[in-house]
Order: sequence, then structure tokens, then C-alpha cells
Amino acid sequence: MKRLEIVFLLLMAVLVCVNDAYRILCVFPYNGKSHFRMSGVLCKGLAKKGHKVDMISHFPTKIPIANYSDIVDLNGTRKDVVNRFSVQYGRTLHAFITYYIATRFGGDLCHLLGHERMQNFIKNPPKDPPYDLVITEYFGASCYLGLGAVLNAPVAIVLTSLETSYVDSFMGNPFNFAFFPGTSLDNAVLNTFFDRVWNLVVNYKDALLFYRYTSDQTNVMRKHLGWDLPDVRQLERNVTLALVSSHYSFHGIRSFAPAMIEVGGLHIQDKEIPLSRGLKNWLDEADHGLVYFTMGSLLNIESLPRDTLLGLYASFGKISPIRVLMRIANATKLPPGLPDNVVVSSWIPQISVLKHKNTRVFITHGGLMGTEEAVYYGIPTIGIPVCFDQMRNVNIMVHKKMGVLLRLEDLSERSMDTALHAILHDPKYREAARKMSQLFRDRPMNSLDTAIYWTEYVIRNGPDSLKSPAVDMPWWKLHLIDVFVFLIASFVLALYFLFVAVKFTLKNLYTLKNKRPKEKSN
Ligand SMILES: *[C@@H]1O[C@H](CO)[C@@H](O)[C@H](O)[C@H]1NC(C)=O
Ligand SMILES: *[C@@H]1O[C@H](CO)[C@@H](O)[C@H](O)[C@H]1NC(C)=O
Ligand SMILES: *[C@@H]1O[C@H](CO)[C@@H](O)[C@H](O)[C@H]1NC(C)=O
Ligand SMILES: *[C@@H]1O[C@H](CO)[C@@H](O)[C@H](O)[C@H]1NC(C)=O
Repeated sequence: MKRLEIVFLLLMAVLVCVNDAYRILCVFPYNGKSHFRMSGVLCKGLAKKGHKVDMISHFPTKIPIANYSDIVDLNGTRKDVVNRFSVQYGRTLHAFITYYIATRFGGDLCHLLGHERMQNFIKNPPKDPPYDLVITEYFGASCYLGLGAVLNAPVAIVLTSLETSYVDSFMGNPFNFAFFPGTSLDNAVLNTFFDRVWNLVVNYKDALLFYRYTSDQTNVMRKHLGWDLPDVRQLERNVTLALVSSHYSFHGIRSFAPAMIEVGGLHIQDKEIPLSRGLKNWLDEADHGLVYFTMGSLLNIESLPRDTLLGLYASFGKISPIRVLMRIANATKLPPGLPDNVVVSSWIPQISVLKHKNTRVFITHGGLMGTEEAVYYGIPTIGIPVCFDQMRNVNIMVHKKMGVLLRLEDLSERSMDTALHAILHDPKYREAARKMSQLFRDRPMNSLDTAIYWTEYVIRNGPDSLKSPAVDMPWWKLHLIDVFVFLIASFVLALYFLFVAVKFTLKNLYTLKNKRPKEKSN
């Protein structure tokens, strides 16, 4: 009997262990590499934890990973975006940012659902075992949330930039506009009354525009996934968990609904890609320090005007023997005359460079991933923002005193001289960056483990386990408008009755007074 019990308990234990492994579908339809860095690390981390992960993305893994399979490879289905953005194009994007997010990075991606490779998957998804969760990026393509309904699984979203006001709204996040600048604002902090006015107006305007530009996604989604699917707006309100690439130590304090988890820095894994032998030696020998300059994987430095580039050459030449490393996608497009202390390369393992002991300055466009790396490794920055959230990220680094802003339109030999001089010779930037790094890393659990914990949590405890009741409330109920109207109306009514009562009493007193003498005379 005893032995049987033990066997039974052991069997249960094995079953429980097996049950703890979930099947997760990761869907990342956007082919921007910087976005995939965070998503890829998350899904590979889940596989490493023992879950069975199926990936749909443009970036199939080169080395096989246990429990991880590229179930649909989207590589080649979209025009390559890596290294394809000129700085001028970036500026155009910035002027109509909501439109581009909703269409170029949103609606356009929805058509991929109709691609043969996707349709093969959708018509015949693996069922043994079925999916416990779908994880997808929420940028502009809400249509992918429909995969949850098709596969009968809850949906978690990954946000590779700060969440927008529409995400706050459908996740039931508390209202932070009084003190926290929304994504559509470039400010690091709100100081004045008009900052607050603007914060509300701009973010609401962008939310309304986004709803308008993405309203056709429901139809495209239904066409490819099934006509019985709910509206995308309804699917958004059904999202189980949102993992946001931000951290309060950097972006600022704000309130969060429990279903929104900050995992800023998740993509930074210390096990970095090693530097090539030549580059490593060159960095090791840069005793006087190194300046690392990149505009990220999309924007091209070589697309800057020729005069600007020559100005930068002159400025970089002056700081020799300090060395400068530049990421240039196509070096043949650079004008001749690079100074001797400058080396360019089309591919640089960024984290290895930022971690290097000789690196003293990071010249960056202020993309979120690069910004978080600079913060994580405590490197002072010179920010040259172009589009998206870059202006804001750079403003925050300036506000934290770990960097300086260099406007693209002011970029010249002189402005670069000034910026480099400040960052290289004023120790306050390095000190602030070091402090920022300490704060950013001071957490109970690292970002990847935090993300994995909450992902498992919502699977274990049900899709509504973190859901805020705010999600299903109309805005006037949520902001207590009805209650305020009721209270104000009650107050006004009470005042009115008081007034009537006082008037009535006074009038009666008066008549009483007038009557009395008459009575007396009687
Ligand atoms: C995508 O496909 C192209 C051409 O087949 C190949 O050169 C490239 O390495 C692939 N990209 C990835 C990330 O696998
Ligand atoms: C994950 O991989 C390990 C090693 O390959 C294997 O033993 C285990 O069964 C896998 N788990 C799942 C859920 O497939
Ligand atoms: C919302 O998600 C739950 C859990 O995944 C699912 O059962 C339900 O059908 C979804 N509702 C809608 C309207 O999609
Ligand atoms: C680099 O630029 C040159 C000149 O514009 C062009 O001919 C060449 O094809 C480009 N190389 C790559 C790899 O894009």
C-alpha cells in the first residue's frame, strides 16, 4: 500500500512537471531587427525554461534551440528594411508618425496573414498539444490578435517601445497624463500647465487617429482568419498581458495596471556575440578611449549630406588619439578622407562594444534598444534623434544628465566639437550615467525572468487573472463623470432648497412681524 502511494505521488509529480511546460506561439510579423531583438530573447528564454515555443518571424534561428522551432519562416515575404532608411525618410516618418505606425507598420503587415506560408499554418495549426498562449508584438498591427481567437488561446503582447495612450486604454492602465508625458510627447517631464494641456490633447488626438487608420484591419483580419471573428477593438480589450520595454528608473514614475509589466532592458543578455579578432585588438589598444557612433540598424549615417559628413570627419580627427568606431552599412557611399583614428564597419556587435572598458561615448539616434543599452552599461551619450520615440529618449538622457542633445539640423563640425568636448572632459556625465546604470539594474528579478514569470502566471491562473475591471468600462464611468455630475447636481439642488427654505422662512418671519402689531391693536 505504502509503496503504491509513493509510486502514485511520483507519477503525480511527473505529471505536474510535464503540465508546467506550456505550448506558446510567438508571432512577430514586423521585419525590423531591433524590434525582434526583444521578442526573440523573450521567446528563446521561454524555450530555455522548458516550454515548447513555435515562432513565426522573419528571423529564423541559425543554430537549433531545444524546444524552439521556426514554425513559419517569413523571411523574404517583405521588403527588407534593415539599412534601408535614409535620415530624410526618417524625418518624413516623424511628421506623420501615427499614420505610418498604423499603416506601414500596421495595416500593411495584416496582408501577410494571407500569405501562403501563414495560411498553411492557420488552416492546419498543431493541435497536439494545443497552444496555451499567443505572444505577438503590438505596434500597429492589431489584426494579429485574431490568431488568439482562431487558436482558442489567450493573447499576450510585447511593446518594443513605450506604450501609447490606446494601449493604456485597452489595458485599463490608470490615467497618468497629469504628471507623465505620453508617448506622443517628446518631453522628458511635464513642468507647466500648458505641458499638461498639450500632453492630453496630443495623446488623445493620436489615439483617435490610430483608431481611424486601423479600423479597416478588422476586415483584412476576417478575410484571412474567419468572418466570425470579433472586431479588433474588442480583441484588444481581451489582451491578457502586456510586456513593455520601459523602466521607471529611466522613463519616470507612473501607475500601472497589474497586467502591464515593465521589462525594460530585456533584450540585453550578457552573453553577447564576441567581437572579431581585429576589432577586439583595435578596441583593446584604444587606451585613450573610444567613441562609438551608430544610427541603429535602420538609419544610414552615409545618407547624411556630404558637407555634414566632412564636418564630422574633421571633428573626429581632432580628438585623436581617442578612437572612433562607426557603423556604416555601405562604406563605399562615404566621401573619402576618413581620419586615421576612425574605423568603419557594416556590422558591429553593439553590446560587446558598449561593454568594452575603453568605450567612453556613445553617439546614438536614441532608439529605445540602444538607449537602454547605454543606460545599462552606464555610457554617456550624444543623441541625434530622427524619428519615433528617439527625441523623447534623448531628452530623458539629457534630463538625467547622462547625455547631450545634438539636433540633426544643427549637426556640423562645430556642434560635434562642443558635444564631444563636454562628454569627454566633464566628469558629471560619466558619473550620472554610472548612477543611472545602477538604478536601472536594481530590481528583484532581471527583465527576462520577470517576463517569463508573468507569462507563466497568466497561463497558470487564467487569462483574466490580471485583468483590470477598467478595461470594460466606458470612459465616463471610468473617470467618474457620472458620479461627479451626480454630486455636483446634488450640491446645487441642496443649495437651491436651502435658498428656498431660507427665503420661505424669512418671508414668514416678516409677515409674522407685520401681523403682530395688528393682533395687538385688536
Ligand atoms: C533571409 O533570406 C536571405 C535570402 O534567402 C538570406 O540571405 C538571409 O540570410 C535570410 N535572413 C535570415 C535572418 O535568415
Ligand atoms: C524540451 O527539450 C528537452 C530537451 O530537448 C526535452 O527533454 C523536453 O521534453 C522538451 N520539452 C517540451 C515541452 O517539448
Ligand atoms: C477573450 O479571451 C478569452 C480567453 O482567451 C476567450 O475565451 C474569449 O473568447 C475571448 N473573447 C473575445 C471576444 O475574443
Ligand atoms: C554600396 O553603394 C554602392 C555605390 O552607391 C553601390 O554600387 C553598391 O551596390 C552598394 N553595396 C551594397 C552592398 O549595397
